[in-house]
Amino acid sequence: RYYTWIVQDTCIACGVCGACAPEVFDYDDEGIAYGYHDNNRGNTPIANDMIEEVQDAEESCPTGSVQISKKPKPDDKS
Ligand code: F3S
Repeated sequence: RYYTWIVQDTCIACGVCGACAPEVFDYDDEGIAYGYHDNNRGNTPIANDMIEEVQDAEESCPTGSVQISKKPKPDDKS
């Protein structure tokens, strides 16, 4: 199982992640990406047939903001 989320502080709204994985990433009003399937919580496993697309997005994001991990996103302290 893999989890994914966007680090929104470093996302520059380039739009590549959603091009790679349109069913996983969407953008807010300012073009900042987020994980659509779990509202960027990073706690819902990616569907198996989406993993390759998410890996593409992770490799293609110019700022390294796309996270993919075998563990859920650590809880936000904020
Ligand atoms: Fe942002 Fe990277 Fe996607 S800069 S829009 S997270 S490809």
